[in-house]
Amino acid sequence: MAQEQTLAGKTAYVAGASSGINLGIAKRFKAAGANVVIISRSEDKIAAAAKEVGDGCIGIAADVRDYAAIEASLKRTHEAFGDIDIVLSGAAGNFVAPALGMSANGFKTVVDIDLIGTFNVLRASFEFLRRPGASLISITAGQAERASLYQAHVCAAKAGINMLTKCLALEWGPAGVRVNAISPGPIAETEGMARLAPTDEAEARVKSRNPMRRYGLKDEIADMAIFLSSPQAAYVNGAIIPVDGGSGAGDASGNALMNYAPAYQA
Ligand code: HXC
Ligand code: NAP
Repeated sequence: MAQEQTLAGKTAYVAGASSGINLGIAKRFKAAGANVVIISRSEDKIAAAAKEVGDGCIGIAADVRDYAAIEASLKRTHEAFGDIDIVLSGAAGNFVAPALGMSANGFKTVVDIDLIGTFNVLRASFEFLRRPGASLISITAGQAERASLYQAHVCAAKAGINMLTKCLALEWGPAGVRVNAISPGPIAETEGMARLAPTDEAEARVKSRNPMRRYGLKDEIADMAIFLSSPQAAYVNGAIIPVDGGSGAGDASGNALMNYAPAYQA
């Protein structure tokens, strides 16, 4: 079934969109009628991804750690399509390592990509935005709120993204610019889960701890991005919205109490 053209005529800029969740979002923005520009570090990957997104999509190689390159890519977006309606900042890096197995540069690298990169993208976008009206979305993770073994760098970076999102919502709300974050749970067929749950056993464990007993889909994250960019979300600002099957709601990890009452499990 053809998707309703809810974003017809709008312009969307998606950072970190050569693969995974953000590419999925870019495709849905395009299917909803938006002009789409995507960026990532790799010239080859972003060119291939732009082809996948479809006709008219522009792919630009730019590193979110390089403010000038990001600013130039936003300027190019503005020149091609006019005021930018939607900015999604989702570039990220992750590896599994204990703090003692990580150099200062390893920690800094993830903070630079995730947190400083998000500041760069959102800050540089401001002068090119439709004001009032623009929707800015950062991509965070449950690690922002819950400490996680061997993820000190990611937990710290994503926690920073959550607070940055709320601070910008306060500062830019008066200009009619809304700033929100989506916090995905474990999403199927992504690099993130390939790194965090690389074996069938680990994948089964993650699923068993999620109240929905499955991974989420890229399209389920894109649904939220489209909602946040719609008039129906006009009063949603400064929100960190989990799309995680309930994994952030509490401990559904098969704790001791569950063993006392197997007959009552839904
Ligand atoms: C310890 C490591 C390491 C590892 C890299 N480093 N991998 N340290 N264990 N496994 C260290 C390096 O030794 C180096 O420190 C520093 O990190 C920088 O490494 P580079 O390779 O030079 O960095 P760079 O080329 O910029 O690559 C960034 C990267 C890489 C993060 C390291 O993995 C990457 O490009 N990732 C992008 C794709 C990705 O990660 N996707 C998943 C996102 S999912 P030294 O001291 O040696 O110089 C996600 C999930 C969130 O974010 C939550 C999900 C639930
Ligand atoms: P992914 O496919 O690896 O996506 C990361 C993207 O960021 C890639 O397109 C990568 O492209 C780009 N990127 C990395 N470093 C960059 C940089 N310095 N500058 C510009 N672009 C850069 O991973 P994913 O699993 O789909 O994750 C997407 C987002 O969702 C991330 O923010 C992640 O933290 C979040 N998240 C994921 C999950 C999950 O289950 N997967 C759960 C919670 C949150 P290049 O290599 O071409 O640069």
